[in-house]
Amino acid sequence: MEFYETIKTRRSSRGYLPDKPVPEKALTRIAEAIDLAPSACNRQPVKFLFVRNPELRAKICEVYQPAWLKEAPVIAVVLGCDEKAWHRLEGDSIVPVDAAIAMEHFMLAAAAEGLGTCWICAFRRDEMDKVLGLTGSPWRSVAISPLGYAKAGAVGPLSRKNVHEIVQVID
Ligand SMILES: Cc1cc2nc3c(=O)[nH]c(=O)nc-3n(C[C@H](O)[C@H](O)[C@H](O)COP(=O)(O)O)c2cc1C
Repeated sequence: MEFYETIKTRRSSRGYLPDKPVPEKALTRIAEAIDLAPSACNRQPVKFLFVRNPELRAKICEVYQPAWLKEAPVIAVVLGCDEKAWHRLEGDSIVPVDAAIAMEHFMLAAAAEGLGTCWICAFRRDEMDKVLGLTGSPWRSVAISPLGYAKAGAVGPLSRKNVHEIVQVID
């Protein structure tokens, strides 16, 4: 898919076809797109888990409960590690930025494959880390996303500010 077409295609999908699996080749290409994401000092302090295991998906869905997450054949979990990350001059970790870039690579690659995603971060990280077995580990959950073929009507209307409010050209 052409790049700008992919950008226009990507939307948050909140409804999935549970019985239509994600093709292995698509999953491989999406993984390679994630690996190509830039990161501060190239440290890559971010990992993705593609959770297909039904028991673990069910536990994740107890932490974040909308019905549509249960429909997704894959739940992607984004993890970050402050210990591995570059830190800003003020001392704060760059993990949220590096994770956001990797997540955008993931979502755009999925869109190019005709797959739906939805960035989710409205969950209790301590509860998510617990079900992922990360308690006491330097790795922490940052975000999750369903990955799968979206149902018809799974995407809401597009709403954005006027581009001139967001981007200013200063000559
Ligand atoms: C950092 C971030 C966090 C988000 N968290 C959630 C979330 O917890 N649950 C959810 O349903 N959508 C979440 N979203 C999706 C946004 O609501 C969505 O991207 C926005 O409304 C624009 O719609 P679009 O993605 O379809 O273009 C999140 C998006 C971002 C970028």
